[in-house]
Amino acid sequence: MPNREDYIGVFDSGVGGLSVLKALLQELPGERFLYFGDCANAPYGTKTTQQVKDLTFAAAEKLFCRGIKALVVACNTATAAAIDDLRAKYPDGIIVGIEPAVKLAHDHYPQGKVGVLATPVTLREEKFAHLAENFSQMEITPIPLPGLVELIEKGEDPEAFLQPVLAPYRNKLDAVVLGCTHYPLIAPVFRSILGQNTELLDGAKGTAQQTKRRLLAADLLEKGEGCVVFESSAEGDFEKRCKTFLEEKS
Ligand code: DGL
Repeated sequence: MPNREDYIGVFDSGVGGLSVLKALLQELPGERFLYFGDCANAPYGTKTTQQVKDLTFAAAEKLFCRGIKALVVACNTATAAAIDDLRAKYPDGIIVGIEPAVKLAHDHYPQGKVGVLATPVTLREEKFAHLAENFSQMEITPIPLPGLVELIEKGEDPEAFLQPVLAPYRNKLDAVVLGCTHYPLIAPVFRSILGQNTELLDGAKGTAQQTKRRLLAADLLEKGEGCVVFESSAEGDFEKRCKTFLEEKS
């Protein structure tokens, strides 16, 4: 049986899930978080669905074996490819997954023009087709950005990569959904290319609120000191990189 003081596992292919961890820390400051970045296997978003499923299952297994009380899949790509199967495998586990914030965009602009930026896997999976269908009053433009996650992981400037792809949309969209958790980490670049008239939206806060609701319902909310432990599947200065991202404003 899980205990209140157990870790909440938070997982992404790399540093992207930190945008979700930030929201979790705000919503749940008394919790202990174990953040796992599968950097050795990033990026996920250009792999086959089966590959993403296998990697997600391996990461979930590793975290559940550590005795986490809840798993937050802080990766839209992993949610799209694997969350249903994951919930079937761990029917008693609390598993929350982030999805592109299309509903939030609909709340703000019910008949608006909305771009959804995400990985190729997220945009080609059935879950996204359903989401878009449910909010078909909006004009939704899916914009896959293969190659961007690698730049963010390496800490390289993404401006030259994004400019030609996104300049045609400048000030033409009401909102852009950042449907990959890496993207909020470079929000200022999106803002400068897309223009002042386009609102940037993401699902981090909603995911954190959902995690809180699930913990409350299971009587597993912890109100302690709070802490974060960082782990990665790759060698290197992961903890240091994570702390830098967490401290940056976006
Ligand atoms: N951060 C992830 C997402 O939200 C995955 C990025 C990747 O590894 O391609 O989709």
